[in-house]
Amino acid sequence: MTTVPVKKRKRRLRKEFKYGLIGLAILILVILIFTVFIPSSTRRKITKLGYSKESAVAIMEQKLTNTVLEKEYSEALDENLKRGIKVAEHFDLYYVTTNVNDEIIHLNDILLKKGYAKEDALKCFANLSFKEITPLLVFNNVTNMDDYIQDVTSHRTIQNVFVKNDYTKYYENVSQVEDAAALDVIVNKYNMISTDYVPDVVSCSRQYASEGVELRSEAYEAFKEMEADMLAAGVEGIRGVYITSGYRNAELQKELYDRYLNSKGELYADAYSARPGSSEHQLGLSMDITATNKESLEFDTTEEYAWISVNCHKYGFILRYPASGEKITGYSFEPWHYRYVGKELATKIYNSGLTFDEYYELYMRDYSTAEGK
Ligand code: DAL
Ligand code: ZN
Repeated sequence: MTTVPVKKRKRRLRKEFKYGLIGLAILILVILIFTVFIPSSTRRKITKLGYSKESAVAIMEQKLTNTVLEKEYSEALDENLKRGIKVAEHFDLYYVTTNVNDEIIHLNDILLKKGYAKEDALKCFANLSFKEITPLLVFNNVTNMDDYIQDVTSHRTIQNVFVKNDYTKYYENVSQVEDAAALDVIVNKYNMISTDYVPDVVSCSRQYASEGVELRSEAYEAFKEMEADMLAAGVEGIRGVYITSGYRNAELQKELYDRYLNSKGELYADAYSARPGSSEHQLGLSMDITATNKESLEFDTTEEYAWISVNCHKYGFILRYPASGEKITGYSFEPWHYRYVGKELATKIYNSGLTFDEYYELYMRDYSTAEGK
């Protein structure tokens, strides 16, 4: 073993200490680069786009830096981030609107299932309200989404006009409904029943209906209960209603349709009458009612209408062709026509503010087997 002279040892120690210091400085520098300099320059890049400092930090934390830097500034995204929302999962929606919730996410999913392009769906969420978008689930002929959006936004101030143009091709790509006897079945210009279908119906008493009116018992019983409660409510001016039309077989429906067709033409006929096989009267679940003391066409001016239109869901009925839904249902406003679907569903449809047609497409159709639009 050789002994190192004290002087030499001290020199070596000093040298080692020097290298150690340099190493430590490099380490601190690297740490600073990764924890301070890079993040602050990334944050600067993000804030330069227009985002708040708070949002920039959230963007980095949520690992969305590259996604955000590739796009223009979004006021909606900025706002959503400031609210502390985790935006990664539905980033595209959060990028275009501050109104994202479970319903919007669901509506977006269904639009895509219907075959709408992702960009078109996002354009809708950026510009339209939920209820201005749901008609798209029923429409089958929207050729240009910008035109649709323009149509909707330019008619917002006119009562009961939500679009001027038509976005439907009726009676094309028609499906046959699977179970015509189901209380929640939908029949319209795209979902038809066999003209041979005959439901189980009962005759309605002359106390409640015109001569020969028949309905499925569920609908008839619900009507009687509704009528009794309406009279008991004691609203001034209410004298009662009676049913003028219930179950109609396909042959009778054809007669009615043809009468309109021959006197007023196809456009008119299709706005007022269903073609045979597409009328819910054939289900035995629909009824036309009128006030005892008023002409049937003036039903919407009566106290009876005022009461029934806001209470009928409690008995299982829906106002099937509302004034605000003409372009969606494809029928002119029918204040007298009510469809029985059962209390639970009627209440859900009423509370949604949607037509049955929209509600069905949004919440009831089974898309696992459907081919989209
Ligand atoms: N008037 C309704 C739409 C029907 O004919 O069934
Ligand atoms: Zn009717």
